[in-house]
Amino acid sequence: MNSTPYAPGPIKSMPHLGLKDRNTFGLDATADIAYEITAPGEIAGVMREVNTQNLPWRVLGGGSNVILPKVLPGATLLMNITGQEILPSDQNATLIAVGGGVNWHEFVAWTLENNLPGLENLALIPGTVGAAPIQNIGAYGIEIADYIDSIEAFDVKIHAFVTLSKDDCQFAYRNSYFKQHPQRFIVAKVVFKIPKVWQAKIHYADLAKQFEENPNPTAEEIFLAVCKIRTHKLPDPKVIGNAGSFFHNPVIPNEQYETLLKKYVDLASYPDAPGKRKLAAGWLIDQCGFKGQRMGEVGVYENQALVLVNYGNGTAQDILGLAKCIQDKVRNEFGVSLEIEPNIL
Ligand code: EPU
Repeated sequence: MNSTPYAPGPIKSMPHLGLKDRNTFGLDATADIAYEITAPGEIAGVMREVNTQNLPWRVLGGGSNVILPKVLPGATLLMNITGQEILPSDQNATLIAVGGGVNWHEFVAWTLENNLPGLENLALIPGTVGAAPIQNIGAYGIEIADYIDSIEAFDVKIHAFVTLSKDDCQFAYRNSYFKQHPQRFIVAKVVFKIPKVWQAKIHYADLAKQFEENPNPTAEEIFLAVCKIRTHKLPDPKVIGNAGSFFHNPVIPNEQYETLLKKYVDLASYPDAPGKRKLAAGWLIDQCGFKGQRMGEVGVYENQALVLVNYGNGTAQDILGLAKCIQDKVRNEFGVSLEIEPNIL
């Protein structure tokens, strides 16, 4: 990890800012003081303020993976560093530096418009570029980790910008060094490494089905197919509040998987590390009868049981109450614990 000293930039604060339209669950929350961050130097400036006043703080990107309380005390950094730049690259891969505040889906579309295919399987994932590596977003057979070169972040511990290599990031399924060290890094820029030789990745079941008749699709065709599948299975946060998958897919030992499979022959699962199996949490929740169920202002989405939704006036407490019911029932039925995916602030 290399570090560089910083020159704090000017800061712009917004007191008592409503965040209902800045979190995809659509929760009614207010930030005590919000800071809009448009350049890396501003992060340093705000964090100096945070330190001097000993304020609690957090970063909000696209707000697509958070459960917000009614009031967020202290400082809320709204990440809005934009811009993408193609860096000097070699013959094997193209390097692209992208601001942490860039919308993820718009970036994926931009790569295709600029003839840099590779990220198309990750189309339509809500959120920002800066938030994407924290939980190592993944879908339809690929993970963002496969395409990261390095990350420029503000290290709160040493008050300097650091560059983390892909290895430093310790990416794993929905996990990273950033997630393991909450409140330590603020991602300013992500450098992507897109291989120059492209190969379609359509092995994921839903995608394979789309291309039964067309085994050699273009990246654009894959992009459109992923958008179609996601639009059907996952609710549009602009229409109905949600944070995508609400639980991780649980990983269990092979022996436990074999025992479950004897009782539930159509148990949905994926291969994982040797000796382990990843179960489809959506299948487990669906089997417990939750799909499409409503509990007051919140519920379980009708097309994908892994997604919890807010019908409009739900609170963090309502969502966590429903989550607890689901966790209890799945544990009783299958002996499997479900871990919540979004960050509970
Ligand atoms: N299933 C059901 N009922 C349901 C939902 C799913 O039986 O209500 C079964 C499906 O039939 C399928 C299996 O479970 O056999 C897997 O379902 P799906 O393909 O929808 O994927 P998933 O495992 O539920 C994961 C990611 C998604 C990602 C998809 C596609 C996690 C926690 N979720 O979902 O990521 O889009 O695979 O790759 O790993 C997200 O993180 O927000 C997200 C949407």
